[in-house]
Amino acid sequence: MRINQDPRAVQRITGKRRRKGITIGFVPTMGALHEGHLYLIQKARRENTCVIVSIFVNPLQFHRTRDYASYPRPLGRDATLARAAGVHFLFTPDARALYPPSFQTTVCVARLARRWEGASRPGHFRGVATVVAQLLHLVQPDVAYFGEKDAQQARIIQQLVLDLHFPVRVVVLPTVREQGGLAASSRNSRLSPSERRRACVVYEALQAARRLIECGEHRGAALRRRMKAVVARVAGARLEYAAVVDPETLEPVSRVRGAARLLIAAWIGKVRLIDTLLVKDT
Ligand code: PAJ
Repeated sequence: MRINQDPRAVQRITGKRRRKGITIGFVPTMGALHEGHLYLIQKARRENTCVIVSIFVNPLQFHRTRDYASYPRPLGRDATLARAAGVHFLFTPDARALYPPSFQTTVCVARLARRWEGASRPGHFRGVATVVAQLLHLVQPDVAYFGEKDAQQARIIQQLVLDLHFPVRVVVLPTVREQGGLAASSRNSRLSPSERRRACVVYEALQAARRLIECGEHRGAALRRRMKAVVARVAGARLEYAAVVDPETLEPVSRVRGAARLLIAAWIGKVRLIDTLLVKDT
């Protein structure tokens, strides 16, 4: 595995590989790799000859500089995990390379970024869309892999790729879960053992709403109420939002017809967690 932080080196290498007809699979991350990331890498390995992973803690997508500063950066451990997972190239640019002092171009996916995470974290998706656009330009992969766990992010990237005609196929893969259903996340390491147990309520709330749909309840308001009630039962858990939305537009729906996406964001102590589930009426 090669590790390089120079954007020009990545462009050179990927350009060369493409000319040889080798397919490139790309997994963008912010590091602190966990089972969720490794699953995306594994898929990329299976479907491409060359796998490129980027690790870049993107300052532009952090609402608070304190969160950016305290984001974990275990680069040595990440490199070991990436090597063991069969990654060919680890791209680790630094912030000055992607955002030099003269930098002034950003990408904004308007409607999809308005609600949910976009409302809770102003500027977040502008930061995500901007860095993903840069990374896709530099790496020029055939396929780029993202996780359904960040469903709004994944939709925004699909739209960005469509709107700006990026020649890349976007693959969105299901959420990897730990014991009790908790979605794997770099934030989980900040939970105490007792918070870790209580954090499972986020997934339980989604499951409760899904069961309600299976029992014939299709009203968005009733499903939201159920998610809220499940979270309220757990001490130290605070719901930020629970929503039932159209899977494409992410706009709220008053009734589940066909498929809908459940979205939830909740605080467990000082840790903010998000999760999602695609549901179908039966
Ligand atoms: P990061 O949080 O490191 O996540 C990198 C990728 O892993 C994202 O596509 C995310 O959806 C996926 N992922 C995270 N947890 C997962 C899980 N439990 N199961 C499956 N996939 C999971 O998301 C980002 O970084 C950044 O916003 C980024 C896209 C890299 C832009 O900076």
